[in-house]
Amino acid sequence: MNNEPWYKNAVFYEISVRAFKDSNSDGRGDLRGLTEKLDYLQTLGVDCIWIMPIYPSPLNDDGYDIADYYNIDPAYGNLDDLKELISAAHARNIRLVMDLVLNHTSDAHPWFQAARSDKNSPYRDYYVWSDTDQKYKDARIIFVDTETSNWTWDEQAGQYFWHRFYSSQPDLNFDNPKVQEEMLNVARFWLDLGIDGFRADAVPYLFEREGTNCENLPETHVYLKKLRAFMDQHYPERILLCEANQYPEDVRPYFGDGDQFHMGFHFPIMPRIYMALKKGRFEDVAEIMRRTPPIPENCQWCTFLRNHDELTLEMVTEEERQWMWEQYAPDPRMKLNLGIRRRLAPLLDNDRRKLELANSLLFTLPGAPIIYYGDEIGMGDNLDLFDRNGVRTPMQWDDSPNAGFTDGTPFSELVKGRLGYQRINVASQVNDPDSLFRSVKRMIALRKKHEAFGSSSMEWVDAGNPHVAAYIRQHGADTMLILNNLSDAAQCIRIPQEHQGSYLDLFAAHQTTIANELTFPPYSYLWLQKHT
Ligand code: NOJ
Repeated sequence: MNNEPWYKNAVFYEISVRAFKDSNSDGRGDLRGLTEKLDYLQTLGVDCIWIMPIYPSPLNDDGYDIADYYNIDPAYGNLDDLKELISAAHARNIRLVMDLVLNHTSDAHPWFQAARSDKNSPYRDYYVWSDTDQKYKDARIIFVDTETSNWTWDEQAGQYFWHRFYSSQPDLNFDNPKVQEEMLNVARFWLDLGIDGFRADAVPYLFEREGTNCENLPETHVYLKKLRAFMDQHYPERILLCEANQYPEDVRPYFGDGDQFHMGFHFPIMPRIYMALKKGRFEDVAEIMRRTPPIPENCQWCTFLRNHDELTLEMVTEEERQWMWEQYAPDPRMKLNLGIRRRLAPLLDNDRRKLELANSLLFTLPGAPIIYYGDEIGMGDNLDLFDRNGVRTPMQWDDSPNAGFTDGTPFSELVKGRLGYQRINVASQVNDPDSLFRSVKRMIALRKKHEAFGSSSMEWVDAGNPHVAAYIRQHGADTMLILNNLSDAAQCIRIPQEHQGSYLDLFAAHQTTIANELTFPPYSYLWLQKHT
């Protein structure tokens, strides 16, 4: 593993700072609170944390609407607190990446304020204006539940401005070289503070061109190459992680020749893991894997089961989307835009076997896994909360009032019911060898020990049974046979001769012989290391 770039077999952990841990009793999580909890993350085995935006913001989009790129919202602390967090994390071998929101600002940003109030302001051209709302008709609307157009009329400006997300998030004009430069300066500022890279938000939408859907345009790649060259020159070892909610063939160009993004989320595989679990068959996952082109050696996919947004169904067919909604969003409140606003444990009926199996897939399929805070303990969600806030509730540390998250009044309602903090919390799981936390921790430790998991190699094994996902992961002399029974019934599988033999069962830590036939309990999984 030593020669491999650090991110290829790293385990990531996504955090909403506001919801993680409050250190000053104001009811909102903060950087100091997160720093206090680094030991917990180290115990879990996390290699890199990704924190959601902490910049000053009106919070119309939970911080993805930035009003100042060079500061931290006082609710979270200050720049010194961030430096302290970075050094405390590094002391534990944990890296930290932040969001880089390139595509848009908040309408409260001084650039936009200047732009809208004066046609001759140098900032006017920082945004995309038009006298009509008829341009770029082929661009889809992303927040379909709230927005009816990508253009919004601005009274003060006397023109329409372009936005791909909320109308309070005007898109920056990347055709303006000044904007391109500003964003390099923003990146420099945070990298100089010592962060380990960026999760770059919403990159497909940087440019607009008539007659296109305004996504993934060649101009975007030209700019991203510049950003990467700048990083390589001044900050080698730091990473760029691409958020492009697209099919794999459309994400592939974001890796370029290994000269754009180091990493990219694999969006389409995620809903297919849920399909596989519901149908009890792995074909949907296999199909998207077949459709996933190879990526350069120095690049890596990022895989995840859930994140801070709705479980997106943008990368499935219309028919599949309806099916997913029927299966996983029986209550209309669970639907949001083209997705499902629920957390992992409620999605999987809080069924321990399914939760482990989903994690088994996450940790053994190609790509570096990202855990969404709280999913390692199986915490719930709160459908009473607006938009995606229901999956961004305070972390459930213990069963004391407010889940041990704050001594003050929490910024948000907590999770109620059987997946609330009274029953699901960190304190009760860390020392319980039978807890979900401990299973996830074990998976992480095993994954990190074996180079095979960080490699790109993946070979399906024909086990003669569509219910059991069987595959080989291999790197050098390290060969793993992974078996996952996706169905709710015991399954019999046949192992082809070339894969029969002596293995180490990584969880049971004993030798086992895999012969021709094998019967497998419902929703069970095996990670086997081949004897060489
Ligand atoms: C993607 C982020 O994940 C989401 O939370 C946000 O609303 C949009 N980008 C806009 O920044």
